[in-house]
Amino acid sequence: MQIITSIPKLRKLGNTALVPTMGNLHAGHLSLVAKAKSVAEKVVVSIFVNPLQFGPTEDFATYPRTFEQDCEQLEQLGVDLVFAPKITDIYPNGMEASTYVQVPNLGEILCGVSRPVFFKGITTIVNILFNLVQPDIALFGEKDYQQLLLIKRMVADLFMPIKIVGMPIVREVDGLAMSSRNNYLTSDQRKTAPILFKTIADVRQKLKAGERDFTKLEQQATLNLIATGFQPDYFKIYSADLTIRTHDNLVILAAVNLGTTRLIDNCQV
Ligand code: PAF
Repeated sequence: MQIITSIPKLRKLGNTALVPTMGNLHAGHLSLVAKAKSVAEKVVVSIFVNPLQFGPTEDFATYPRTFEQDCEQLEQLGVDLVFAPKITDIYPNGMEASTYVQVPNLGEILCGVSRPVFFKGITTIVNILFNLVQPDIALFGEKDYQQLLLIKRMVADLFMPIKIVGMPIVREVDGLAMSSRNNYLTSDQRKTAPILFKTIADVRQKLKAGERDFTKLEQQATLNLIATGFQPDYFKIYSADLTIRTHDNLVILAAVNLGTTRLIDNCQV
C-alpha cells in the first residue's frame, strides 16, 4: 500500500474508487472500503481532517487522529493508496481565500442551521479530492444522510463524471450509529447514547403504523430525548429527498448534543 502525503506524487490509478474520510476509522468506514474493493480495480482512501468544515467553536483541534492504526487497518483490507495531504497543500492560499463550492437550500436546513460553515466545507473538500484523485466512484456512509444528498446534488449540478454510492449505517450492538465522535462519550453518556436510535426507531414504527401528525411525533420525540439527558438540535421527519414531507417515502433525522458531544442519526421509513 502506498502512502502519499504530497499532491504532486498523486497520479490517477485507472478504474478507481475513492473513500473520503477524516480518519479514526471504525467499522462504518471499513464497510465503505470493502464495498469499494468490490466495485473498482483500485481503492484510494483519503485521510484529511478538513478544517474548513469545522466552526470556530467546534472540535477541529481535538478530533481524534489515529493515522498509524488507520493505515494498518487499510493495509489489511488491501487498499492501494492512502492520500493524506497537509492543510497547506489543500488550501495554499489559506482557507478564507480559497474558492469554495456551496449547494444552496439543501445545505441550509437541518445540520446547516446550527453549523453554517459545515456543508460548504464538505462540498469544497470533496470537490478538491475528486479533482486530485479523479475517481470513477466515491463512497459515503448514510449516517451523514444530508451530506450524502448534498454530494449527489453537487455531482449532478456540476456534471462531474463520478458515481456516488451511499452505504448503510453500521451500528454498535445496542443500536448506536458508529461515529468517531462516540470516543468523546463518558461511560454514562455511552449508556444513554443508544436512546437516540431507539427514539428514531419508535417514531419509525408509528409512521409505519400510519401515524401522520409529523409535528406531534417530532415534538414527542424531542421531549423524550430531553427527558433522557440529550440536548436536541433537531428531530425531523422529511421526504427522503429532504424537500417536502407530504408523501410516503420518509426519512427521520436527528442531531443531538450529549454533554459536549454532537451525535447524528437517521432512519428511512
Ligand atoms: O464524512 C466525513 O468524514 C467528511 O465529512 C468527509 C466527507 C470526509 C469530508 O471531509
